[in-house]
Amino acid sequence: MSRINREGNPMSELTIAIAKGRLQDSTFDMFRRARIVVAEEALASRRLLVDDGSGRYSFIFVKPADVPVYVEYGIADAGVCGRDVLMESSADVHEPLDLGFGRCRLVVAGKAESAARGYNPLATARVATKYPRVTADYFQRRGVPVELIQLSGSVELAPMLGLSEHIVDLVETGRTLRENGLVVIDTIAESTARLIVNRASYHLKRAAVADLIEALRISIESAKGERG
Ligand code: PRP
Repeated sequence: MSRINREGNPMSELTIAIAKGRLQDSTFDMFRRARIVVAEEALASRRLLVDDGSGRYSFIFVKPADVPVYVEYGIADAGVCGRDVLMESSADVHEPLDLGFGRCRLVVAGKAESAARGYNPLATARVATKYPRVTADYFQRRGVPVELIQLSGSVELAPMLGLSEHIVDLVETGRTLRENGLVVIDTIAESTARLIVNRASYHLKRAAVADLIEALRISIESAKGERG
């Protein structure tokens, strides 16, 4: 059980926000290699706040897009989320470490005929996405007017059903695009998981943060070594 103070906040030295979903298992593999271990029973539970039993680290589980929010506001001292999330976020946080896993691409995709047509700078491109800021920026840079349709998931459905011509979304294996009849039109950015740190914690909890960064750096290097 987490040690909680009267205000309901964790009493560990550092609180770390974890992105639920795609990155979660690899994130805890990395912590395990760094000898920061959360009991399997806690990981399998529905608890949203767990600790590693040493009193040093508490973990909160949040939606990927909320990781930078919890870290910026100092509710979490650190967090793990994808670069894609950071590109979309306006949070002011330190980003001291590329963790290397969770490699994927943020792409513009559409049906093959849209890819062949290219963008028409005189017509408004209708684009469905979970990444409105990144998408607006991408099309503005190309001088293409854009109408954004913000969705929360299953974005690949939008061109199939005629909601939009294009999507901007993550591609990891390419399977979701393929199986929904879409192709990559352009790659906007490469993404991997990143460690982010609250700016105040970076200074006020300098030693604890430095220990965490060093432990994770060693963990990443040892994973690279195992992969050869
Ligand atoms: C992500 C992303 C794509 C899919 C890409 O979705 O948005 O839909 O994974 O993976 P692939 O290239 O390996 O097929 P996620 O599973 O996070 O769910 P979502 O639809 O709720 O965004």
